[in-house]
Amino acid sequence: MAQSWSPKSWREKPVKQLPEYPDQNALKAAEDELASLPPLVFAGEARNLQKELAEVSFGRAFLLQGGDCAESFSEFSANKIRDTFRVILQMAAVMTYGGSLPIVKVGRIAGQFAKPRSSDTETKDGITLPSYRGDNINSIEFTEEARIPNPQRLIKGYHNAAATLNLLRAFSKGGYADLKRVHDWNMEFVSNSPLAHRYEDMSQRIADALRFMEACGITAENVPELRETDFYTSHEALHLPYEEAMTRVDSLTGDYYDTSAHLLWIGARTTQEDHAQIEFVRGIKNPLGMKCSPDMESDELLRLLDILNPENTPGRVTLIARMGAGKVKENLTPLVQAVKKEGRNVVWSCDPMHGNTYKSSSGYKTRNFDDVLSEVKDFFAVHKAEGTHPGGVHFEMTGEDVTECVGGAYQIGDEDLSSRYHTACDPRLNANQVLELAFLIADELNAVRNASDTVAKKS
Ligand code: PEP
Ligand code: CO
Repeated sequence: MAQSWSPKSWREKPVKQLPEYPDQNALKAAEDELASLPPLVFAGEARNLQKELAEVSFGRAFLLQGGDCAESFSEFSANKIRDTFRVILQMAAVMTYGGSLPIVKVGRIAGQFAKPRSSDTETKDGITLPSYRGDNINSIEFTEEARIPNPQRLIKGYHNAAATLNLLRAFSKGGYADLKRVHDWNMEFVSNSPLAHRYEDMSQRIADALRFMEACGITAENVPELRETDFYTSHEALHLPYEEAMTRVDSLTGDYYDTSAHLLWIGARTTQEDHAQIEFVRGIKNPLGMKCSPDMESDELLRLLDILNPENTPGRVTLIARMGAGKVKENLTPLVQAVKKEGRNVVWSCDPMHGNTYKSSSGYKTRNFDDVLSEVKDFFAVHKAEGTHPGGVHFEMTGEDVTECVGGAYQIGDEDLSSRYHTACDPRLNANQVLELAFLIADELNAVRNASDTVAKKS
């Protein structure tokens, strides 16, 4: 028998990665305030996302999830939101066109304000302070005062998320996502890149196809999908006081939903079966993600699926493998085999970022674009070998022209990292690198489709 659950039952469990607030009364006051504020997303939207993810689990769609490692209050601006949105649209256009599959678009956005850390402290020039844990908790500034967890930040995080969502909703439904604008989604700095020509060529073909469809009577007026898109939000289910306060009963179904985002995922450091984060997410009805690191065992994964998805509902769980380049075949294969053998419905997604972080000789935390590419390719290869659907990808990226990951067609070197290194946490792919990756994924998806067309013709 499953044990009873409530939005606060996680408090009875051991918990990792939560800060110690010096003033518990102030934390309680912030939680109460959050609980009185309107939901950020509606349960029906989360259900729609789950339906779309079910399509992914059946092999009929592909998931694209991406955005900042950590959003930051100081970088909050309309332009930044627009640039992230448009780079995701651009990627999705390339992937839809190349792979002939609908792309489910989910941002790491509008709430990605809490970070797990490997170490509780950070030392610089002989001074040791508590680690930065994301803008919802403390400040990245390296002073004693700034690193004290401040519950008022949770309220600010809520309002930032609300404003971000407001703009995203306007962009997705108000004309910005109109396929006719596919040319405009390209960034100015990408126009000079080696891939610009390929993107221009594809945009032209899409424009031609739209003209043809228009002549046949299929227009944005009668098919809204041509001018609108569905864009969903997600963040890590880490800071449980915030998530609990945002959890509400849906009046239509009587179920609990965490209304802080459409999808919540469990990070690699908090997958312990008997701990607080797993306890919390098992009771909310939102679609869930869970990171799978190289040390996850098959039986552990199956037990976690029993907890998170006892009814084996398609679309409920997305498994986000983050193995590291060179480790995918060995570590992902047994997990995929176990899940397939037991008939579990999951979406398999690939995070080629978090297993590939290292410190460069210039001292910056970085990732090599070749490792990212190699992990994505190996992910597709494992699914091909196992006869399962490579369901999606999960990236840390930005629409800005940053230099945080080395490599790519523009060949960012170690010595370039200092030029535009802006991330509040992990290094992100820039718009050029993202476009390069999108074409690689489109080619992989195309190969998957050709292979299944061949099987269909033979049978
Ligand atoms: C993240 O997605 O930002 C993250 C911390 O990843 P992981 O939990 O896989 O390390
Ligand atoms: Co990260």
